[in-house]
Amino acid sequence: MTGAIGAASLPLSARAPGKCIVFGEHAVVHGGPELLFAVDLTTQLFLRPGARAQLNGDPAAPERHPYFRAALAQPWAPRTPLEVQAVSRIPRGAGLGSSAAFCAAFAAGGSALGGGVDRAGLAQRSFDIERTAQGVGSPGDTSAAVAGGFLTVNAPGSGPTLWSVRDGPRTWDVRRVDDPGWVWIVAHSGIPRATGDAVRSVSARLRAPDGPELLEQFARVAREGIAAMAAGDRAAVGARMAENQQLLREVGVSHPRLEALLDAVAPNVDGAKLTGAGAGGSIVALPRPGAEVEAVRRLARAGGLPFVVRPARDGAELVGPPA
Ligand code: PMV
Repeated sequence: MTGAIGAASLPLSARAPGKCIVFGEHAVVHGGPELLFAVDLTTQLFLRPGARAQLNGDPAAPERHPYFRAALAQPWAPRTPLEVQAVSRIPRGAGLGSSAAFCAAFAAGGSALGGGVDRAGLAQRSFDIERTAQGVGSPGDTSAAVAGGFLTVNAPGSGPTLWSVRDGPRTWDVRRVDDPGWVWIVAHSGIPRATGDAVRSVSARLRAPDGPELLEQFARVAREGIAAMAAGDRAAVGARMAENQQLLREVGVSHPRLEALLDAVAPNVDGAKLTGAGAGGSIVALPRPGAEVEAVRRLARAGGLPFVVRPARDGAELVGPPA
């Protein structure tokens, strides 16, 4: 995970990883359990003092870029005008947490300028930025960007508690769980979408009379999936991924392009499902050992952008002043 963020002065640089959700997206927003891991793709920010705040050379960014605007509005944000340069290897709008990584990297850099912060405080600050910008959402993505590794949200008994994140009267418990050491493949459909819109449409669907029953099913599938992963039972994890995908279809966030990718890769995997907000974005697949290359080939032939994701051990961190 790496430790507290210490004090630093300008110029400085901070980075944070993206994430991949295995179980429980959307339901987590409503208090359900979630399992996710940080991926080894990062967003790195370079912060320098400037005449006025700007992002990637755009002086209108404080008005135009919702995450930058939300970051600058936080009570702990530096008062010095910051020129921020963002370099990201995380595809945008792909369900891989590019916005959470931006929030966590900014919170790490901004907090260092204010004298430093512990990990729990950094998780809260990162979430506060994302929540302000998106208007809706859970702290799962930003916690993964801060913690690195594998973690659960709202899953009592799954592992030692890392921290709790608050949103008004609500709290989410974040816990550390073990990396089973498996290979994961993500394939981007190329269909962009907005997380906030998808979260709002699922929330509306869950207000229907069968909403509570659907949420209970999301919770059961995630709980069983988390237990199966702790037991190293790939077949059971795969079966729960398929069930989770069926629930995500029912709440309306699958997409024909995602279904085409899931069909294409089915012969080579223990399990696969959409990951993140859906309605476009990406799928995550657990390929059978030895079938990884064939799985990637099939996903590419089906029009996806596949890549192997490795879990990132480290969360958000300072990387020293730019050379
Ligand atoms: O698609 P992404 O990377 O923005 O992930 C969204 C995950 C949701 O559960 C749908 C929302 C959330 O805030 O947890």
